[in-house]
Amino acid sequence: VWAAGGVCVADEVQIGFGRMGTHTWAFETQGVIPDIVTMGKPIGNGHPLGAVVTTRAIADAFHNGMEYFNTFGGNPVSCAVALEVLNVIRDEGLQQNALEVGGYFLARLKELQTRCPLIGHVRSRETLEPAANETRYIVERMREQGFLVSTEGPLRNVIKIKPPIIFQKHHSVRFRHLLNDLLDVFA
Ligand SMILES: Cc1ncc(COP(=O)(O)O)c(C=O)c1O
Repeated sequence: VWAAGGVCVADEVQIGFGRMGTHTWAFETQGVIPDIVTMGKPIGNGHPLGAVVTTRAIADAFHNGMEYFNTFGGNPVSCAVALEVLNVIRDEGLQQNALEVGGYFLARLKELQTRCPLIGHVRSRETLEPAANETRYIVERMREQGFLVSTEGPLRNVIKIKPPIIFQKHHSVRFRHLLNDLLDVFA
């Protein structure tokens, strides 16, 4: 990227603030120091907030006489929320929680993968057709039970799971049982 004159941007909107478990920022797992880091949702834990971190040189490049202003930028209430979110992540050991529960959850889902032929490339192994209808059915039933999963991918055959950082092992057990039962519908 740099050799071609570009800048490296790390989007931490979904995965930042300890959600990787092993690191605070996902870019740390990639062995790269980005020029720009964008942060969103988890910075306010539901309160609408966003932030950009960059180098002095890049920030200065925008200081070109064109005034930038923003109605809610630097809002003190929002800043207080963001600071408190950082305190809670530290005080409640939520990065460690992400590491432990995330690893546990992944292991439970991999167990399910070995048992269920529909999971893998998330395609039926017989026809190799993308399982979009099955995915939609599963996502709808899971939402009814309070798990806000969604379909993803160009073929809509991927179940996207975005558990909150306070997710507990017992939630992942419930999730796995429910998914297991729903997959049985197509067994
Ligand atoms: C990975 C990622 N980047 C950026 C954004 C945009 O964030 P915002 O809505 O705070 O501008 C989103 C929103 O869903 C996202 O998921």
